[in-house]
Amino acid sequence: MIPPPRMPARRVLEATSTAATLMPGYGEADHSKLRPLLGASRFGGAFGYNPFTLYAANAVSSPNALVLGKIGNGKSALVKAYLARMLAYGYPALVIDPKGEYRALAERFGEGAVTLMRGGEGVNPFVPPSIGDSASALEFNCEMAERAIEALTGHPVSALEGASVRSVLGALGDKVGFLALRRGLADLDERGGPLEWLGDYQKGSLAEAVVALDRLLQSGLVSAGERAGSLASRLGRGIVAVDLSAAFGSSLYSLAATMVLASVRALQLRPGSPRLVVAVDEIWALGEEPEAARWLRSYWKLSRALGIANLGVTHRLSDLRHGAGAGSAGLLQDSETIVTFAMETGDAEAICHERGLAPELARTIARLPKGSALWQFGKSVCVVDHILTRTERQICDTDARLRGDGPELAALGENPL
Ligand SMILES: Nc1ncnc2c1ncn2[C@@H]1O[C@H](COP(=O)(O)OP(=O)(O)OP(=O)(O)O)[C@@H](O)[C@H]1O
Ligand SMILES: [Mg+2]
Repeated sequence: MIPPPRMPARRVLEATSTAATLMPGYGEADHSKLRPLLGASRFGGAFGYNPFTLYAANAVSSPNALVLGKIGNGKSALVKAYLARMLAYGYPALVIDPKGEYRALAERFGEGAVTLMRGGEGVNPFVPPSIGDSASALEFNCEMAERAIEALTGHPVSALEGASVRSVLGALGDKVGFLALRRGLADLDERGGPLEWLGDYQKGSLAEAVVALDRLLQSGLVSAGERAGSLASRLGRGIVAVDLSAAFGSSLYSLAATMVLASVRALQLRPGSPRLVVAVDEIWALGEEPEAARWLRSYWKLSRALGIANLGVTHRLSDLRHGAGAGSAGLLQDSETIVTFAMETGDAEAICHERGLAPELARTIARLPKGSALWQFGKSVCVVDHILTRTERQICDTDARLRGDGPELAALGENPL
């Protein structure tokens, strides 16, 4: 049992006077019965959170959550502790790790991190048509292939490319994979285009798409065969961290993260898959282009049906809107839980406005210390001091190098980028 923290009188006063009187429900709900526990409520007692339990009890209508806040305030530390503790209650997890900082967590609570794009086995985001509804599997697979070709060519797929992709994927059946698609497209080009194509066909029209798929296969991101790739044998067993640090900051990052999430979705379609927590750190980096943002929003919305509770991490709301049009702003609507760490007052005001919180809470958010956050879900609003165990503190420490007590050269060796 986590003991309630000793709280300075000023903070008690601030919490009660600015919030409880302004916001019905603020601090009133009892969160101490939910498991896992994550910390202590400013109103006394332990604070637990579990999106699956809340969803089953109709306390929330979406199990998805967003974690927001300024740099270095404890967002990733909360995600790490949350994943580790959810696992203790039987919920496995996958985390998209753009900085390679979840390795220690995956090593301790799983089988180690999956490294893509550096000689890893790659993922296969395609859905074998024999799993469930083959028409929707074909739609899903066409969308994945087109997303990949668009990201690598830098322009939307042409009508001819789209028809060709559909024709090849439709014929592949369960042997669906990127290498088979690449071969199928090259073959179609030799044979004068897909049968369904009634317009003129010029040889070489599919060459750009074939070259794009060659680049994708060479990147190591996707698996060459039709096997489900690196994730298949690991998903559902402990915490899987997918290390995408080799792509973070590059134009390929959003595609890489999309392919991983699509693979997770495809794998969750397997009958008997356990409920899963999926965390996406630095989620803003996925939704920079409108197409990617739209895909992310549809993933976010639909994953509920697959037993997935998503958790996205970003700095401020404007990150989600930036360049992403209506797509990413929807993440906010489709995430019933919001966890807000300290923010600049203007950003905190934007959150309060969007989420219907009393504007006065912006001051509380702006003054939160490291490790504390305002939680809002269902009818609950609560300030929580997150408490890390000693082991978690070691796993969560991202400041060691700044403090000068980290093996700096070893850390550089970990991430050559
Ligand atoms: N509740 C807490 N108790 C003790 N230390 C904490 C707590 N939360 C975070 N820290 C420490 O603060 C440091 C920064 O935390 P973290 O890496 O989670 O920040 P962040 O918000 O994810 O930052 P960024 O935006 O840069 O990713 C870490 O070294 C972590 O161990
Ligand atoms: Mg972080």
